[in-house]
Amino acid sequence: FGAQVLRGLKVVVSAGPTYEDIDPVRFIGNRSSGRMGFAVAEAAAQVGAEVTLVAGPVSMATPPGIARRVDVRSAAQMRDAVMAASNGADIYIAAAAVGDYRPAEVAGHKLKKQDGAPLELRLTENPDILATLAAQTVRPFLVGFAAETHDVERYAQDKLKRKGLDMIAANQVGGGLGFEAADNALTLYGPEGAIDLPRASKTELARQLVARVAERYRAVRG
Ligand code: PMT
Repeated sequence: FGAQVLRGLKVVVSAGPTYEDIDPVRFIGNRSSGRMGFAVAEAAAQVGAEVTLVAGPVSMATPPGIARRVDVRSAAQMRDAVMAASNGADIYIAAAAVGDYRPAEVAGHKLKKQDGAPLELRLTENPDILATLAAQTVRPFLVGFAAETHDVERYAQDKLKRKGLDMIAANQVGGGLGFEAADNALTLYGPEGAIDLPRASKTELARQLVARVAERYRAVRG
């Protein structure tokens, strides 16, 4: 690792969760810490890529070598930032855990208790960033992530096809892996079959993932 296999290429990486506001003090979020995506961004920079890191609300320092960091909060803001950064980019690696839904209305004031009555929140589906990019005729090489608690391979293969991706990195969450943890384990799926990257630190896995992405990118895009 370290050969400049992505030299001259523009790579966009998304990381972290998204927060969808309910009112001025509450939101819907998820447990992503940003560690996996930040490690991927650092690994891509180490092999020569010009990296734009689009980060959800995380408390992580920008890794060395990153050309640009764009901080966002909601899925809609992440979509806008990723779409802008992906214009002319060669590779997009989507490690962010994007919220699938947002509140249909954001209250302008702090919601109050309902005297024992249930409070109902209506949710609207968020735009799918990867699928939006995949639908474009000129688009970066697309690498998705899939975090699942069960049936990992089936869901990952389904996302690979349904979202029109070039590769997907699947991780099982729970048992000290996935969200928030220092370690992870990945299985990469693509047209060439499955590649297991066994349990290791996110730093190490990010390097292995970036090496595989570079190989595959060179094979299909030169
Ligand atoms: O941040 P960490 O704490 O280190 O945790 C890392 C991680 C577990 C969050 C990461 O490794 C991971 O798996 N990220 C994807 C999480 C996920 O569940 O994604 P998904 O199955 O909801 O979505 C699949 C893919 O579509 C992802 O690449 C996602 O970025 C993308 N997506 C999802 C929804 C949406 N509206 N737009 C998208 O582009």
